[in-house]
Amino acid sequence: MAAPLAAPTDAAVLEALRAVRDPDLHQDIVSLGFVKDLRVCGGNVAFSIELTTPACPVKDLMKAQAEQAVRRLPGVGDVTVQMTARVTASRPLMGDKGMIPGVKNVIAVSSGKGGVGKSTIAVNLACALARAGAKVGILDADVYGPNVPLMLGVTGQPTTENKKIVPFEKYGLQVMSMALLVAEDQPVIWRGPMLHSAVRQFLFDVAWRDLDYLVVDLPPGTGDAQLSLSQQAHLMGAVIVTTPQDVSVLDVKKAIRMFQTVNVPVLGVVENMSWFTPPGSSERYHLFGQGGGQKIEREFGVPLLGQVPIEMAVREGGDSGRPITLAAPESASAKAMIDIAGRIAQRVSILNAE
Ligand SMILES: Nc1ncnc2c1ncn2[C@@H]1O[C@H](COP(=O)(O)OP(=O)(O)O)[C@@H](O)[C@H]1O
Ligand SMILES: [Mg+2]
Repeated sequence: MAAPLAAPTDAAVLEALRAVRDPDLHQDIVSLGFVKDLRVCGGNVAFSIELTTPACPVKDLMKAQAEQAVRRLPGVGDVTVQMTARVTASRPLMGDKGMIPGVKNVIAVSSGKGGVGKSTIAVNLACALARAGAKVGILDADVYGPNVPLMLGVTGQPTTENKKIVPFEKYGLQVMSMALLVAEDQPVIWRGPMLHSAVRQFLFDVAWRDLDYLVVDLPPGTGDAQLSLSQQAHLMGAVIVTTPQDVSVLDVKKAIRMFQTVNVPVLGVVENMSWFTPPGSSERYHLFGQGGGQKIEREFGVPLLGQVPIEMAVREGGDSGRPITLAAPESASAKAMIDIAGRIAQRVSILNAE
């Protein structure tokens, strides 16, 4: 009878794991310091891999590769891999100016004009990131059309604690909106200076607790409100929402320019309302034209993060306060938004590592 194989050493396991590379950071997971809590007990091997985002699109692939690499070693019995994440923070080049307390990455969601689905995308991105296991907040800074609370079914007046505004909790998100500071039946007439100080208060006076990502729903357009926000707070990056037709492509160009002037990286463009597929059909009807997103990618070198089809359930999810990524994650539009969230998280990790 052959003698049982000796259990592998820690060093042998780590050596084997060097075969697994992070495709975004272009290094192996051992050099990156991602392998933690390695335990070899008899032939059984357990360890965790700590990624830079829980929403990593290649998480399952890396887990499978790691398992396989270790299983190939002689003398190995069970292999248990736990995937964890510690999200990296975006920092200004110098000092801490504009860092919002309690937030690692501020992601602004912007659009050239209203009605393109900016808030819908912002809310669903936040939900998708939270669903993946990240700690996420959403700030509704669209003073002219603050509809994030409605889309999440959040009502009531916020409370304060130690002179800070306490965000609401919904679906695991921390939620705050400009709308919640204004009585429902009052029109919002913000003048320039008032708007600036209100936005400022909003940014720095909310008691965000330990957020990986704060998604900010900006007012549409490229005016003062957007600029002042981009100058006062350190934004990790911006996501621009558009619809496929040509006019909105022009608006996107303006938005990209604006973020470039204030040195905020444009993480990419989301094309919303890209097509409609009637129930029972598989045909795609491009109601608002076609190719806008690709055109932006080609002409401005900004990645097209994804295309979201028109689905009745998206609007229903918004109206009922239960976003489609939570209500129907298997629907075509939810899947698109979940993919887009992963791609954004990936871009954040890459830029933060540079
Ligand atoms: N992909 C989509 N499919 C169906 N309805 C959508 C989609 N995206 C947005 N909507 C609906 O379009 C309307 C405008 O969206 P909204 O997110 O409020 O736009 P914005 O914030 O840009 O003004 C809302 O009623 C919303 O539910
Ligand atoms: Mg809106």
